[in-house]
Amino acid sequence: MILPIYLYGQAALRKPTEDVVPGEMDVKELLANMQETLTAAEGCGLAAPQVGLSKRIFIVDGTELGEDYPDCVDFKQAFLNPEIIEESEETVSYSEGCLSLPGISENVVRPETITIRYQDADFNWKEETFSGFKARIVQHEYDHLEGHVFTDRISPIRRQFVKGKLTNIAKGKTTARYRCKR
Ligand code: NI
Repeated sequence: MILPIYLYGQAALRKPTEDVVPGEMDVKELLANMQETLTAAEGCGLAAPQVGLSKRIFIVDGTELGEDYPDCVDFKQAFLNPEIIEESEETVSYSEGCLSLPGISENVVRPETITIRYQDADFNWKEETFSGFKARIVQHEYDHLEGHVFTDRISPIRRQFVKGKLTNIAKGKTTARYRCKR
């Protein structure tokens, strides 16, 4: 089932998230719905707060990134209860966008490499290190679990520049090519 994607201005995007516990909900069904939603929107990551759920869950799917980031094409997995436990001092700037902020893309500086501890869709604990654009997607989605969106991390000058666009999204004066809640 395709879920509506909550847009900038919705309180769900700023709310703290809670751990997901085995048995409290049908996690497999939620992940399937989130994947269907992400595929329909042609995005590369989706976090639970973006579908109105304050849980520590996100998915990544690099299928759409093909030519730009070929190493991400097979990057498709779920992260439950994640915690970034290490970040490199080396940083890198990439242009980011977000399904909750349609029409905005800005350069964001973040650590080049991160190590994350998380549970997979079967609640098995894993620890993995990601670099490059994979690390970028993971950090962007992780931010959603902390109540942040990527424009929180851009320079004050750029934030001033996108302020009007953000206001328009929050006021519902924006169009998205996918189902959304504004
Ligand atoms: Ni996002």
